[in-house]
Amino acid sequence: TYVVTENCIQCKYTDCVDVCPVDCFREGENFLVIDPDECIDCTLCVAECPAEAIFAEDDVPADQQHCTELNATLARGWKAIIERKDPLPDADDWNGKTDKLALLKR
Ligand code: SF4
Ligand code: F3S
Repeated sequence: TYVVTENCIQCKYTDCVDVCPVDCFREGENFLVIDPDECIDCTLCVAECPAEAIFAEDDVPADQQHCTELNATLARGWKAIIERKDPLPDADDWNGKTDKLALLKR
């Protein structure tokens, strides 16, 4: 599966949603996750994300390993997002900031 990591938090550009052939993105208030049961590993979303937040499960950076389980857990409770929408208002300011996990709205 592919995994959305912390840099998506407070950005949520949603470009990833447009290219996913199986609509496996799930939406929270300030983060998206990938439903690992639906992702077919097509790789298309990786290049679309302006925050470079998406990785193959095997390539998730060491400090983002917790995100694999986080995607699986949140995907169970969040609804599908199938169309791109505007990013969050200060997305460009938040892009690249570290330690955003505390800001995650579940
Ligand atoms: Fe969707 Fe493909 Fe990305 Fe998986 S790798 S989330 S199937 S676009
Ligand atoms: Fe998030 Fe990147 Fe998609 S910021 S919403 S994973 S395009």
